[in-house]
Amino acid sequence: MSKPKRAPGGFPVVGVVGGGQLARMMQGPAVELGLQLSVLAESDMAAAALVVPSSPVGEHTDLGTVRAFAEHCDVVTFDHEHVPPEVLEALEADGIAIHPTRAALRFAQDKLAMRERLTALGIACPRWARATTAAEVTAFGDEVGWPIIAKTPRGGYDGKGVAVASSADDVADWLTRVGEPGPLADGLLLEEKVDFVRELAVLIARSPSGQAAAWPVVETVQTDGICTEVLAPAPTLEPDLASVATEAGLRIAGELGVTGVLAVEMFELPRGVDGRAAYVVNELAMRPHNSGHWTMDGAVTGQFEQHLRAVLDLPLGDPRARAPWTVMANVLGGDRPEHEELYSAYRHIMARDPGAKVHVYGKGVRPGRKIGHVNVSSGDLLDARERAGHAADYLRGVITE
Ligand SMILES: Nc1ncnc2c1ncn2[C@@H]1O[C@H](COP(=O)(O)OP(=O)(O)OP(=O)(O)O)[C@@H](O)[C@H]1O
Ligand SMILES: [Mg+2]
Repeated sequence: MSKPKRAPGGFPVVGVVGGGQLARMMQGPAVELGLQLSVLAESDMAAAALVVPSSPVGEHTDLGTVRAFAEHCDVVTFDHEHVPPEVLEALEADGIAIHPTRAALRFAQDKLAMRERLTALGIACPRWARATTAAEVTAFGDEVGWPIIAKTPRGGYDGKGVAVASSADDVADWLTRVGEPGPLADGLLLEEKVDFVRELAVLIARSPSGQAAAWPVVETVQTDGICTEVLAPAPTLEPDLASVATEAGLRIAGELGVTGVLAVEMFELPRGVDGRAAYVVNELAMRPHNSGHWTMDGAVTGQFEQHLRAVLDLPLGDPRARAPWTVMANVLGGDRPEHEELYSAYRHIMARDPGAKVHVYGKGVRPGRKIGHVNVSSGDLLDARERAGHAADYLRGVITE
């Protein structure tokens, strides 16, 4: 397996398992900090493999492959949550520094384990249950009210693995897979369908020695289960909710022993009769996250730099915002004809808005696939939203001027 060239000066090699856009976006800060990245990529055309010289291609599920990769790294981290626990366990037994650790990562890999642990910690969650039979699904729906949300505990992303069920029949297919090896081995996760005001995310970075830093709480906008827009900070967020949500994020990071970036997705609830702000936690991600892409241009320390600092146990950077508002708009593939070059859109959007920061991932255009994002900072929220949205829409090809 090709080894990364070490720079003089004692700089470590950070290994990233998975060659998607998150690994790719670590490369900019790694270059600036003088760190060497090495990526275990899915193919030599993976988003990160295109920009990181040391990008061996291999299967993240194969112990021998991951072990050979980890051998030339000082620390190993991840672009996704899909490395099997038994592979992580073997690497830890080898003495390899993995961040986040297997023990922490479990709660981002398995939504049933996450619900059990957060509930035990007293963190507010939607009402939930594990179900292995149609009778259990029916009993839960009758108790909390239909429709309910059903989830595959493992392997979901971008809303895949999330279903709205109006009866047990709607999840009949999933129930047949319970007990088989795979994402449904331990059953389905059922949740009440939360009537939320909006979705929020708390982004935390924590280092192995326990230092933690929190970015401002953001609002995330999901379309068909995919994050399409992030508003930083969350507009009109009451200070009491901002502080309890941040506190919950820091507590989760500490209790679970998370190292690196942790994203806590939350639902903001309508204020109760007592007027108190409330939220429930949706799910956890333990890596840089879409809700933190705004930090690349909108915060003193961006999430990719902070993740590298955290996994290396370096002192963390300042997470504060640089501007009153930063809006991130995702660019999803699908509307632009495949033969058309994405690059051809640059001339127009750069000329129209020199302040818009465009990030493109080097990925082929497929419907619904995240291929880039645009950040715009401004003193005015509407201005930032309009400009980020315009540039993203133009890149997608849904508007032509
Ligand atoms: N209990 C719930 N009540 C209401 N809406 C929900 C619930 N759970 C999930 N959703 C909606 O579905 C979206 C996707 O759910 P979730 O975040 O669990 O799935 P995912 O596929 O793991 O997503 P991600 O892309 O963040 O990895 C949420 O952002 C939210 O809009
Ligand atoms: Mg989610």
